Formats: sequence, C-alpha cells, structure tokens
Amino acid sequence: MYLRCSDERCATKLELHQRALACPRCGNLLEVAAGPLMFSPEVLKELWWNRRCSRDPRDRSGVWRFREFLPDYPPRDIVTMGEGNVPLVPGIKSADWAGLSNIRFKHLGWNPTACFKDLGMTVGVTEARFQGAQTVACASTGNTAGSMAAYAARAGMTARVYLPAGAVSPNKVAQALDYGAEIVEVEGSFDEALATVLREAGPEIYFLNSINPFRLEGQKTVMFELQEELGWHSPDYIVVPGGNLGNTAAFGKALYELKSAGLIDKVPRMVVVQAEGANPLVRTWREGSDELLAVKEPRTAATAIRIGAPVSWKKALKALRFTNGLAIDVTDDEIAEAKSVIGRDGIGCEPASATTLAGARKLAREGTIARDASVVAILTGHVLKDTDYITRSRYTAAVRASAEVQAD
Ligand code: F0G
Repeated sequence: MYLRCSDERCATKLELHQRALACPRCGNLLEVAAGPLMFSPEVLKELWWNRRCSRDPRDRSGVWRFREFLPDYPPRDIVTMGEGNVPLVPGIKSADWAGLSNIRFKHLGWNPTACFKDLGMTVGVTEARFQGAQTVACASTGNTAGSMAAYAARAGMTARVYLPAGAVSPNKVAQALDYGAEIVEVEGSFDEALATVLREAGPEIYFLNSINPFRLEGQKTVMFELQEELGWHSPDYIVVPGGNLGNTAAFGKALYELKSAGLIDKVPRMVVVQAEGANPLVRTWREGSDELLAVKEPRTAATAIRIGAPVSWKKALKALRFTNGLAIDVTDDEIAEAKSVIGRDGIGCEPASATTLAGARKLAREGTIARDASVVAILTGHVLKDTDYITRSRYTAAVRASAEVQAD
C-alpha cells in the first residue's frame, strides 16, 4: 500500500507512512491506495464471515475484520474497542412517514463512543501510535473530539480538541472531558476551529481530522459490513448526512473498491443530505461548479454538520459521480420532524443523522425514489449525543405535529 494524490490527473505517490496532510505537488488531499488483491471475492467473503466466530480482537472489530483492504500493522499495535458490528434496523413508522416500503437504518451511533467516528479513529490512532506520536489533535463539532479522545486514551496519548465556542452539544464536551481531552475553544464555526488547529499544529502533533487518509480507511468498512449483512446485494440507495464529507468520501471509495474487486455487482446510488443553512456541497453540485461554493456563516440546529467549507468536497463529488448519486438539502424543521419519527420507531438518533430520513422523504415525494426501492439510511450519532436539542420547545412542537399526522 502507498499514499497517492486523490486527484487522478496528478497521481503523485508517497510512501504509506509519510506524514503529509496534502499532496506536496498540487495540494489536493491524499488517499491510501492498495496494490493488487491476492484473493478471489468468494474466498474473501468466506474469510470475513468466519472471522465473526474468532476470538482475535482484530476479528471482533467490524473494521479490522476487513483488513485485507486496510494498511497492515503488527496485531499488538492495533488500538481497537470492537467498533463496528452495528445492526441494520428496519424503519416502521419511519417508512410510513417517508412513503417508502423498505427503509433500513445502519446505526453507527451504536459504537463505543456513540458515533461513527470510532470506525475511523481505530485506524487513525493506530497509525499515530505506529508513527510514535505522543499528542493527537483535531477540530470538531463534538463527535470527532470524543472519539479521538477515547482512542487516544487507550493508546496512552494526549488528545487536544479545538471546538467552536458555544456551538457544541454539552453532552459531547462532557464526553471528551471524561476521556481526558485538552479542550481549546475557538471563536467562530467549525471552519475557523479547523483553520486554527492546522495553523497551530507543529510537527510533534499528529493530526486526526478526516483530511487524514487513514481515518477514511476505517470509515470505509461501513460499506463492507453493510454489504455483508445484505448478502452482497446492494440496496438501491444509501443515504448519508453531509458535514465535512469524510463519510461520503470514504463510502464512495469503498464502493469503488468493492465493485473493482468483484465483491458487488451493482453500485448503489449515494444520496448526501445537508442542512439547508449549511449546504456547500449541494450548492456546488447543483451549479456543477469546479470551485467549492462555501457557506460563510453556516447555520443549522444540527450542530454536528454546521460546516461551511468541507475539506473533502472534491472526494465527495468524485463519490457522487461514481455512484450516480445526488446531493440535496432539508430544512431544520424537516430534520426535527424526521428525528421525532426515528425516535418513535424506538431507534433514536442525533439531529444530524435525521437528515437522512428527511432527505429520503423529500426524494420519495418528488418521485425520484420509488416507493418500493430499497433504501439504507446511515445514522451517525446516538440519541443521547444532543439532549438539549430534544428538550427545546421547537423540537417538542415538531414531535407533537408529527404525532398528530400519524394519528390521522
Ligand atoms: N453526523 C454526525 C453525528 C457528525 O458528528 C458528523 C460530523 C456528520 C454527520 C457529518 O459527517 O463530516 O463525514 O460529512 N462531525 C464532525 C465532528 C465534523 O467534528 O464531529 P462528515
């Protein structure tokens, strides 16, 4: 394996463990590239399935079980807490509400720190340890912070997190503190926090935002686990919330690799859903622009995705093109209503995750997604990640409204 520039026209290659945040030639983001695969699809499927019965900590992880597609590390160096292995739960009230007969939720909020970031952090922190880092850092709307702090604690490292002041759910701040993180508050939005950490992080700090290609390698395994659960029959649509667009980039890469390796026949269409007040990808996609149409002052009550200039936007566009996908936005009221319906299904999620159901309903209503299409919505965070949101009056009103609709 090696690192390469994510822009095919540049194609610069670097040694796998070289510490670089961007391509030294053109400045685009890097990605991990694999050499030729030594196994047939049938052999891999059986190997991965059998590992579910193994006691090896790598096999107990829903990330490292798929290690033929990951960088190789000595087993003892791997920092894992058995992440992944989350179920696919059918929506019941959610299906009715969206006007779909087959919508299922892959709930990544049911991970060790209650969000999807753990899937990336197990690889990112393993790489940091492999490189001998003592301190890791990130900017965050809250979830990356908690996840990085937990995995850094497991690896005996210091975690420093840069948070937009006053704009992170208190539950998430508490979680990062509990895992021992050093917290730096930055005036402004996530975008300013990211600029600050990039400016301040010296060579002694290992940087763990989703610019880091190792993190995305871990997150990509969500698609492997999902396809395995579905018997390697792709759904028609995969719906993902879009913030900094690390997941979108990682899932697109995964689907490309799965298709290239002959593990799946059909590529599902990926739908990225952003909040209307923080929708830079949607604007860029709609306009067919080659430049990012950033949002200067992003606004949404779904604070996890309040991001105006997502770093992985080019990778995300590549993922949308490869999967014949779509980028759409939904209002904060639609997010609140969708969240309340997911709650009434006994599942629950944080606001950013509910963009998926709101987006699926929007596309079903306008006839883009057929009623009988198979849809998988990726829920990224646990219901307890943002409890203030739940107790606020606006949300309570939305819950009441959706309950009335359902009672009719
Ligand atoms: N959902 C949740 C719950 C998130 O925390 C995030 C991002 C996203 C969706 C968007 O994912 O960035 O891969 O497009 N949270 C980051 C953080 C930015 O700092 O915790 P993305």
